[in-house]
Amino acid sequence: MKYELTKDLETGNQLIDAEHRQLFVAINNLMDACAQGKGRDHVAHTTKFLSDYVSKHFADEERLQMQSKYPDLHAHKQFHEKYKQELAQIVNDLNTSGPTLAVLNHLNIAIGTIVTHIHTMDKKLAMHLKKAIA
Ligand SMILES: [Fe+2]
Repeated sequence: MKYELTKDLETGNQLIDAEHRQLFVAINNLMDACAQGKGRDHVAHTTKFLSDYVSKHFADEERLQMQSKYPDLHAHKQFHEKYKQELAQIVNDLNTSGPTLAVLNHLNIAIGTIVTHIHTMDKKLAMHLKKAIA
């Protein structure tokens, strides 16, 4: 199954949507690497790209929040921090034990978490940005 930024996940903010699209590409690449048994080097390469990209994306969102004086900045940042830790744990497990069923399960849960986050917190942020810019 391929993850994609479906219409209902679009926030309407160009930068955020473009980065979310890229995020799903990175997730798909990682899932493919795990499924195709391409070896640890390839899996490690895709996990590194994904975690680097998530960090970059979260930093971009946080910058927009600071610039626009977003009132929910703190809660949003808290989610980002927790998520980065969770992802780091998955990356670590993938790199040490490979794509076991348990790690893949954890990864799937983490993907679900980010989809929900996009659906709720990021949409709320985009609404604020729209008003702040207008
Ligand atoms: Fe976010």
